[in-house]
Amino acid sequence: KTVQRTLLRGRILDFNAAPRDENDTEAYNYLEDGAILISNGQIEATGEFAPLSAYAQDAEVIDHRPNLLMPGFIDTHIHFPQVQVIASWGDQLLDWLNNYTFPEETRFAEQAHAENMASHFYDFLTNHGTTTAVAYCSVHSTSVEAYFEEAARRNMCMIGGKVMMDRNAPDGLLDTPQSSYDDSKALIKKWHGQGRAHYAITPRFAITSTPEQLEMAGALVSEHPECFVQTHLSENHDEIAFTAELYPDAPDYLGVYEHYGLLTPKMLLGHSIHLTEREIDVLASTQAKPVFCPTSNLFLGSGLFDDAGLSARGITNAIATDVGAGTSYSMLQTLNEGYKILQLQNQKLHPLRAFHWITRGNAAALGLEDKIGTLAPGTDADIVVLNANATPEMALRMERAESLSEELFILQILGDDRSVDAVYVAGREMKQTANGAAAPSL
Ligand code: GUN
Ligand code: ZN
Repeated sequence: KTVQRTLLRGRILDFNAAPRDENDTEAYNYLEDGAILISNGQIEATGEFAPLSAYAQDAEVIDHRPNLLMPGFIDTHIHFPQVQVIASWGDQLLDWLNNYTFPEETRFAEQAHAENMASHFYDFLTNHGTTTAVAYCSVHSTSVEAYFEEAARRNMCMIGGKVMMDRNAPDGLLDTPQSSYDDSKALIKKWHGQGRAHYAITPRFAITSTPEQLEMAGALVSEHPECFVQTHLSENHDEIAFTAELYPDAPDYLGVYEHYGLLTPKMLLGHSIHLTEREIDVLASTQAKPVFCPTSNLFLGSGLFDDAGLSARGITNAIATDVGAGTSYSMLQTLNEGYKILQLQNQKLHPLRAFHWITRGNAAALGLEDKIGTLAPGTDADIVVLNANATPEMALRMERAESLSEELFILQILGDDRSVDAVYVAGREMKQTANGAAAPSL
């Protein structure tokens, strides 16, 4: 039996390196009349439409012209149990956690709730063009099961893990050092490497873990070097002060995680805003990855991420939504707010660098650039179809756009889920139609 192949036709853009500046045409591949040949959920070839269609005469052609085909977006920090926390008014980090987030997360102990929310969560991701995300689940294994079950059903490359937290939260959200170790271990065994799933060992942050629990997290990290690790770092001044009280012997916030052996190149550190020189040195030497969360940092009033400062030290920064403190599932809106945060520091986020960041850049931060984030042959067929004329306001602005960079910048500033015309996950169309009905039958 022969494999049914699909040929997507349209304008094509992907990156093979981080663009140094707006003139770095070597960093990307752009084809005006291009095509992506998909077979078995993977990209078999990417190139000019004419020769590819001659080569793959059996393939079903799907014509996306004049839209732009790019690798699916990657969100490197998001909270699955916060789908009903997004847009909660008034507080900064610690009050926001206590007043809104922790109460909501207790509900994920219940399997039916977790499953129902997972279904919405994945719809939201793909509708916004995100095909891979790195998520915090809740403290309950049920939430992790729901998260990975739904990812498997949709054949999505998803990273996530059970939050480890054993103090400074309501009873319904607390585990113990031993139970957090045992539960994480069982979840790693069940899910890591299952299909496209990856596990992330997830101590929530220093404030909600006792030293005994961080020691257990360190044991997991050394026993499972194949897994990711994620936590939060230096998001907010009150958080940093409380951490210093709880860990009086640590030289600084990052020193806590360093002490317990959590820092590796597979470590993602959400926020990383208010850092000392020593902490920046440690990030550079361990190659742990700071994660810039623009909409969240503005929403909670947390501060301004120093992208250029960290990059200049050879540190690789990822970028993410951080929903539910983040205010949009859209990586385009994330770039929009990111542009403004960098503007406030006289740093620039050029559209070529921006679109590299949410595709190959984030993939490389995860060490997954050989599987996702580009349109290279042999990688998984996770593809977003972008329409820069999606709204009347965008279409009118596009009349005056004269270059690819201008089109990308219009998407970066004005784009959201309306600019996502279609999304392919491992070669299968996943975007919901405008009236809200699911496009594919799963
Ligand atoms: N720090 C610890 N937990 C969280 C969380 O859920 N969201 C954010 N933004 N910061 C955190
Ligand atoms: Zn977060």
